[in-house]
Amino acid sequence: MASVPKLSSVFTWILYFIPVYIFILEPILRPIFPDKTEPSEVTTWESEVLLDDWEETKPALNLEDDSFISPEDDVPINCPGEAPGYKLHLLSRTPLIMYIENFVSDEEADHLVDISLNKYSPSIVYDGVTERVDPSKRLSDRALLDRDDTVRCLEERARAFQGWRPHLYIERMWAQRYNASGHYRHHYDWVGSLAHGGDRLSTFMVYLGADCVGGGTNFPRLRMPPGEQWCQFLECEPEGQPAQEGITFKPIKGNAIFWENLRPDGTGYPETWHAAFPVSEGTKVGLNIWSWYQPPRRMSQKGT
Ligand SMILES: *[C@@H]1O[C@H](CO)[C@@H](O)[C@H](O)[C@H]1NC(C)=O
Repeated sequence: MASVPKLSSVFTWILYFIPVYIFILEPILRPIFPDKTEPSEVTTWESEVLLDDWEETKPALNLEDDSFISPEDDVPINCPGEAPGYKLHLLSRTPLIMYIENFVSDEEADHLVDISLNKYSPSIVYDGVTERVDPSKRLSDRALLDRDDTVRCLEERARAFQGWRPHLYIERMWAQRYNASGHYRHHYDWVGSLAHGGDRLSTFMVYLGADCVGGGTNFPRLRMPPGEQWCQFLECEPEGQPAQEGITFKPIKGNAIFWENLRPDGTGYPETWHAAFPVSEGTKVGLNIWSWYQPPRRMSQKGT
């Protein structure tokens, strides 16, 4: 007759097994059967974008087109007049909006204004089909900047700020000059075209020259953050004054607003609706740094 183990010896074996499991077996097994909740690597930047709808006839943006984007090449990055660093202030997590103090140094800002002179032409508006000048919507002049050392340095600063995200392409930079009465009505920087090839993922709005009254950058759908420190950068209504809609950034030379235009699924954030309020005196010069996002094209499986 087979002997049944005594209850006490079963307990003894369990007691021996517990430390063996904790200190020996579990560490050996963990790499083989990883815990699903444990992050195994940094979350990738790749957005979940529905690309299957891409029609093969619709060409994506030509990434070699250096009149629109600034291709990365072998020209060494050299940063004359670079300031030691910038300060960041988080304004919103969704959409991501950061305020950047001293994004460009005074020397860099003055240089960028200098190279823009003699290159200005009236700014255009784009309605999805045609480009035209429409002073009721947008009254300013714009200048395409040559890619000199300072501009290339800023391209790299913008890439680094965004963590060298793959498939992100810095557009050629434009300076925008607003004279008295210059303005830009509320608009989005994104067009909702990601599924057709690419779209503007993010915007840096940099103030290069702010010798002006008025000319704030208004976001009517954002709310004033708590903390009176923000009154350095945002218009704060004095007591008893009618509140402006949303929040308005003061133009301050060298500082920048950074925001993301697109959600992870590629659709645009309605909160990024913004305007350049009219300049009432003087001149404002702004610099747009737009990041075009174009994930690799996945061909439709149809007919293959
Ligand atoms: C702004 O002022 C400059 C210099 O006076 C002038 O050449 C330019 O045409 C003006 N632009 C607009 C849009 O009024």
